[in-house]
Amino acid sequence: MSSTKLISALVALIIILIGAGIYVYNDKSAATYDQVSTSALIGGDFALTDHNGQAVTQADYAGTKKLVFFGFTNCPAVCPTELYNISATLDELGAEDAKKLQVLFISIDPETDTPELMKEYVEAFHDDFIGLTGTVAQVAKAAKAYRVYYAKIPEEDSEMGYTMDHSAYSYLMDEDNKYLTHLPPNSQIEDMVAKIKEFL
Ligand code: NI
Repeated sequence: MSSTKLISALVALIIILIGAGIYVYNDKSAATYDQVSTSALIGGDFALTDHNGQAVTQADYAGTKKLVFFGFTNCPAVCPTELYNISATLDELGAEDAKKLQVLFISIDPETDTPELMKEYVEAFHDDFIGLTGTVAQVAKAAKAYRVYYAKIPEEDSEMGYTMDHSAYSYLMDEDNKYLTHLPPNSQIEDMVAKIKEFL
């Protein structure tokens, strides 16, 4: 190889390395950006009615951390299991830590879930849970803010004639209603306790 060819080869190699460096750097900043924007995307203001019939917005729950879970009172298995697990998690955390966390159960079946029904339902799991419901449009707005999917599925064989398909993540929100983390459905109680403790 002549020295000219060698220099050309080295220059080409340097250009490739600089290119690769820029690519890796961009990729890294894109990943960081994604993480930030995803967390910022979960949560947002809502206007709903609590289980005592009071009109509320997320501002009413500022100043305390919240565990927000969407579901419906006629849910055959997923919601009762999650609410039971959340209740057990509060017990495991102990009274002092449990006080720092307000559990909000938001209905995605507002046509059935009246405030009265929500009160009876949430209190069967824990005295301190708050059930929220609203109009179809209010619930749709709240679910959209939390990126919660739900759909009414006709079920002719069932007593209700329908079921609600819905995502079942619980969202941990901070005192300023900003997203902290989420708990997947069917989490072990000890895992939920450990994850929540990181933020309390
Ligand atoms: Ni459910």
